[in-house]
Amino acid sequence: MKDVRVIDVAPRDGLQNEPGIVALDDKLKLVRLLTTSGVDEVEVTSFVSPKWVPQLADARALCDALATHPCKPAGVIYSALVPNDKGMDQALEVNLQAGRQVLDKVSVFTAASETFSRKNTNASIEETIERFRPVVARAKANSLLVRGYVSCVIACPFEGAISPQSVASVSRRLADLGVDEISLGDTIGAGTPDTVVAMLDAVRAALPCEWTSDDLKLNLHLHDTFGRASECVVAALNAGIRSFDASVAGLGGCPYASAPGKPAPGNIDTTLLVRTIRDRGFSTGASVDTLAVAAAFARSIVSAARMSSG
Ligand code: HMG
Ligand code: MG
Repeated sequence: MKDVRVIDVAPRDGLQNEPGIVALDDKLKLVRLLTTSGVDEVEVTSFVSPKWVPQLADARALCDALATHPCKPAGVIYSALVPNDKGMDQALEVNLQAGRQVLDKVSVFTAASETFSRKNTNASIEETIERFRPVVARAKANSLLVRGYVSCVIACPFEGAISPQSVASVSRRLADLGVDEISLGDTIGAGTPDTVVAMLDAVRAALPCEWTSDDLKLNLHLHDTFGRASECVVAALNAGIRSFDASVAGLGGCPYASAPGKPAPGNIDTTLLVRTIRDRGFSTGASVDTLAVAAAFARSIVSAARMSSG
């Protein structure tokens, strides 16, 4: 029995921000290594516009390849980002063609900052919510779980500090849409233990009570820009959060949170997350030894892709 859920987002958040494009076979191997590391979920890719994120243009091919190599242990979840109906079409086609559930969950994504929402998805927060309405309905009709991401839950690279009330209000909109869980993203790693707890308190106060009684409905997605992510994990654990995203080898960052010459740093390293959780006396299913193998492989494929991109 595990106390805390761990979701590795490296194949999506990690690779979307790389200057080079990682080969499909290497992505496949990374997903497989993570699948056997004992993490609960792997966010495998995004069905987004290849013009916006060329690094993940092979999303369909990756999922089709995952379908032909059924190595996923029972209980491990594969998820993918879908920003709109077009992305949802592809996610559903993967499962239809495979004749089984390769993808178990789809993730819609919006923000608590209007400017970030526009830069990330060419849509206002309100427009993203309207786009999600049919996506969530189709997911439910096809027995897929749905995650709703909120970015910029502490600060926005363009607008600065974001109020906990803004995060709470977007979270409530997602809950009302019928998502199964909400992932709160500190996109640029601006959080401190105090600001993270204040944000969590505001979100919880805005959500219906079933959201606060179920440990796995709220998830924290931390980037480690200023090296404070581990402290924020401890504060969130103390505040009752039992589900966290992380990225093996600390890969990642959102391309639209970067400034020229200053790419957004990565997610909290999965090994650091797992160690932090264990140091506080909680259990996870993840093995730091297996994660070390995945991390070494992740570093090697990213540096090969960087070299080939010049
Ligand atoms: P748009 O340009 O406004 O869309 O982009 P559009 O509907 O006008 O379509 C433009 C073109 O894109 C068309 O193709 C569409 O067919 C195509 P064309 O006719 O020009 O050849 N298109 C698509 N192609 C494939 N898959 C799709 C899709 N949709 C349209 N799903 C759109 C709107 C949302 C598509 C675009 O802005 C986009 O793809 N954005 C994604 C950006 C992204 O992936 N950001 C990173 C993920 S979020 C993140 O990292 C934060 C997170 O980690 C949490 C945190 O840290 O805070 C989750
Ligand atoms: Mg992120």
